[in-house]
Amino acid sequence: MAFFAILILVSKLLLFFPKFSAATDTITQFEPLEDNTTLVSKGGTFELGFFTPASISSNRYLGIWYKSIPIRTVVWVANRDNPIKDNSTELAITTEGNLVLLNPNNNIVIWSTNTTTKASVVVAQLLDSGNLVLRDEKDTDPENYLWQSFDYPSDTFLPGMKAGWDLKKGLNRVLTAWKNWDDPSSGDFRDIALHTNYPEEVMLKGTTKYWRSGPWDGTKFSGNPSVPSNAIVNYTVVSNNDEFYAMYSMTDKSVISRIIMNQTLYVRQRLTWNTDSQMWRVSSELPGDLCDRYNTCGAFGICDLSEAPVCKCLDGFKPKSPRNWTQMNWNQGCVHNQTWSCREKNKDGFKKFSNVKAPDTERSWVNASMTLEECKHKCTENCSCMAYANSDIRGEGSGCAIWFGDLLDIRLMSNAGQDLYIRLAMSETAHQNQDEKDSSKKKVVVIASSISSVIAMLLIFIFIYWRYTNKNNVWVKTEIEGTKNQSQQEDFELPLFDLASIAHATSNFSNDKKLGEGGFGPVYKGTLPNGQEVAVKRLSQTSRQGLKEFKNEVMLCAELQHRNLVKVLGCCIQDDEKLLIYEYMANKSLDVFLFDFGLARMCGGDQIEGETSRVVGTYGYMAPEYAFDGIFSIKSDVFSFGELLLEIVSGKKNSRLFYPNDYNNLIGHAWMLWKEGNPMQFIDTSLEDSCILYEALRCIHIGLLCVQHHPNDRPNMASVVVLLSNENALPLPKDPSYLSNDISTERESSFKNFTSFSINDVTMSMMSAK
Ligand SMILES: *[C@@H]1O[C@H](CO)[C@@H](O)[C@H](O)[C@H]1NC(C)=O
Ligand SMILES: *[C@@H]1O[C@H](CO)[C@@H](O)[C@H](O)[C@H]1NC(C)=O
Ligand SMILES: *[C@@H]1O[C@H](CO)[C@@H](O)[C@H](O)[C@H]1NC(C)=O
Ligand SMILES: *[C@@H]1O[C@H](CO)[C@@H](O)[C@H](O)[C@H]1NC(C)=O
Ligand SMILES: *[C@@H]1O[C@H](CO)[C@@H](O)[C@H](O)[C@H]1NC(C)=O
Ligand SMILES: *[C@@H]1O[C@H](CO)[C@@H](O)[C@H](O)[C@H]1NC(C)=O
Ligand SMILES: *[C@@H]1O[C@H](CO)[C@@H](O)[C@H](O)[C@H]1NC(C)=O
Ligand SMILES: *[C@@H]1O[C@H](CO)[C@@H](O)[C@H](O)[C@H]1NC(C)=O
Ligand SMILES: *[C@@H]1O[C@H](CO)[C@@H](O)[C@H](O)[C@H]1NC(C)=O
Repeated sequence: MAFFAILILVSKLLLFFPKFSAATDTITQFEPLEDNTTLVSKGGTFELGFFTPASISSNRYLGIWYKSIPIRTVVWVANRDNPIKDNSTELAITTEGNLVLLNPNNNIVIWSTNTTTKASVVVAQLLDSGNLVLRDEKDTDPENYLWQSFDYPSDTFLPGMKAGWDLKKGLNRVLTAWKNWDDPSSGDFRDIALHTNYPEEVMLKGTTKYWRSGPWDGTKFSGNPSVPSNAIVNYTVVSNNDEFYAMYSMTDKSVISRIIMNQTLYVRQRLTWNTDSQMWRVSSELPGDLCDRYNTCGAFGICDLSEAPVCKCLDGFKPKSPRNWTQMNWNQGCVHNQTWSCREKNKDGFKKFSNVKAPDTERSWVNASMTLEECKHKCTENCSCMAYANSDIRGEGSGCAIWFGDLLDIRLMSNAGQDLYIRLAMSETAHQNQDEKDSSKKKVVVIASSISSVIAMLLIFIFIYWRYTNKNNVWVKTEIEGTKNQSQQEDFELPLFDLASIAHATSNFSNDKKLGEGGFGPVYKGTLPNGQEVAVKRLSQTSRQGLKEFKNEVMLCAELQHRNLVKVLGCCIQDDEKLLIYEYMANKSLDVFLFDFGLARMCGGDQIEGETSRVVGTYGYMAPEYAFDGIFSIKSDVFSFGELLLEIVSGKKNSRLFYPNDYNNLIGHAWMLWKEGNPMQFIDTSLEDSCILYEALRCIHIGLLCVQHHPNDRPNMASVVVLLSNENALPLPKDPSYLSNDISTERESSFKNFTSFSINDVTMSMMSAK
């Protein structure tokens, strides 16, 4: 017996030994890594080895990929531009202490590190961060690594990695896209930290600038209003005499997230691993919009997403080629409207532009210890100086930045950006006063429209209030009957559509009929046999929502519908398919609703919106539970109402969906100011003189209560009416970005899905990253 046991043990040891040795994380000078083995980092997160792309099977590469996820996702490639053509090449450490890819049969070196630092015994180790490091056997201090793969990134920016300059070593860590998803060779799409006097980060397409972050203004990159860090991503930028780099880490280490350069789409994407769907999901992308694209409006042009068209000449400038400009060919940009004579009294002056992304810094100069007054003087002195600004906007602002020649890539940032002083003919700067007079006229209009919007709101909530509290009310009944006629049904039963006819209407759910995709599934455009255009929401097949819940939801949608909102025409529940069929609307429903009330303010036709919004409403007004999970409740309307209320008080339009921890939108902005005890700043300046401060503040307060993340934290519409009409004390709002709230355990699971889906781009948007 004992003999057998020993035999089994020995054979087991023998059997497992190779595997055991394969699962090491280190190679030494005596033990190269052969093509058929891999290194696995200690915690099992990353694996290093040789791989072959599916489409170019003749090529072999040494790479690092995630060990912990089933889809092989390569994050680093050693020999991306010099593929191996055999399978006998090894990863070895030379006697000089360099890591090499070497074929021992013919001594051909495919790739090599080039460290010159000497160490007695050198080992290479794959760390759990995904970093392959070459170091002295006994020295684990990162400062003393002889070489590390994090210093030579491929297309992927991982947590813990530095993207940008080590000025002492003259090392710039640049991200370069793969040629395509299956070809690791260097593409022409790169992300580079430019270290000038006034450093910023750019994306290049070939040698042409494609996107820029704007310079670091002390708190953030000027063109990226997102806060540097949030509850999910801890984002750091270091800018000093030795270094200029960006870095991030995930606060929750179990969230797998990376940033890549994607040359297929020419975007920088943050991708986050979704453990439920076992897929990577895009959390954010840069450039994020048309105004993000480099120099959309040309020299002295300004890009404003809320305008249509988005490009304007800066005040005091006119299109260089009016003909091209009206055809929306903005490349030639703008020129001074009137000639200014350099340093000539009464001919030369500056005009202040607020909330702008600082222009391209390629031709700029900075002195961090000068005051704004000294800065102005400095700029006035030099006739090629076109603008000046504080280089650091913290506090009152400090430092001096000046720009020479054409001012490129300026955009308006609704809640961020900085003040920029641009050189103009004195008479143009004097226009300011005229403008102010004009704007007082505008004020009256704005106030008038605000009043009408308040009336509109009143009507909206009275309407909703009645609908929910008093279903027997005759008027409400008529309203609902209007809907019913439409669907030709008795009670609230919705017509059931036949799967085959919907499949036919959407050309079998073909991709070119796809209008977009939401958290709950794709939406297709279709045409019914009678010619009616419809939008078909195909609820994710993976959705665990039961039939009963689905039906409830459909009923609720049907009940909620208003004749001016998008109509649900019917549904289809057949086999595994759950489909909702909506009336197709080319425009946004809520806007249309408001136009009924004769309000034009909300209706910038050019606004960027989520694809889904074409079907169900403007993203900006959607409650998060609906936008992300497709769960619609009575409280979802309360959210939209709150948002509208905040828009009215601030006179600003919310342009985007509210992601958790994103302070870069109206709700986040309102909350920040509220939290800082500064809600007055939120009030539309054109309302300041005319409104009763107390009432405006109460509106903000109620608005914040309505946009609470969790529907249970929102008042119902009936309470809103009461709250708006009395002066009783109000409950304190919580942070509407729910991640910082206490999350009850019952919400834990949905919270988790949500996290991985919506990791905020913040980081992305900032440096190298989105
Ligand atoms: C890898 O290949 C070498 C030589 O071809 C062989 O000796 C070794 O056993 C192989 N290792 C594994 C784990 O297959
Ligand atoms: C290398 O490739 C040859 C020919 O394709 C094959 O016979 C051999 O087994 C491979 N060796 C290893 C270690 O994979
Ligand atoms: C080796 O040095 C050259 C020139 O200094 C550099 O271009 C190359 O990227 C380096 N290679 C590695 C693998 O570090
Ligand atoms: C770029 O992104 C698209 C969509 O997410 C994806 O299909 C494609 O494979 C990506 N390309 C690369 C090079 O990663
Ligand atoms: C964020 O990262 C910085 C630098 O990496 C670190 O000092 C800081 O403690 C981190 N903060 C949090 C909340 O993790
Ligand atoms: C340009 O200047 C003229 C006066 O010379 C003025 O009438 C006109 O409004 C200005 N245009 C712009 C766009 O500022
Ligand atoms: C107008 O645009 C065309 C095409 O971009 C360009 O060739 C032409 O020079 C432009 N005209 C002027 C007056 O700049
Ligand atoms: C920066 O400004 C300070 C204060 O005006 C001045 O003393 C210093 O010489 C300036 N530095 C440079 C490099 O111009
Ligand atoms: C003005 O600034 C430009 C750009 O820095 C410089 O080349 C030029 O010499 C300066 N001119 C004067 C008079 O200082």
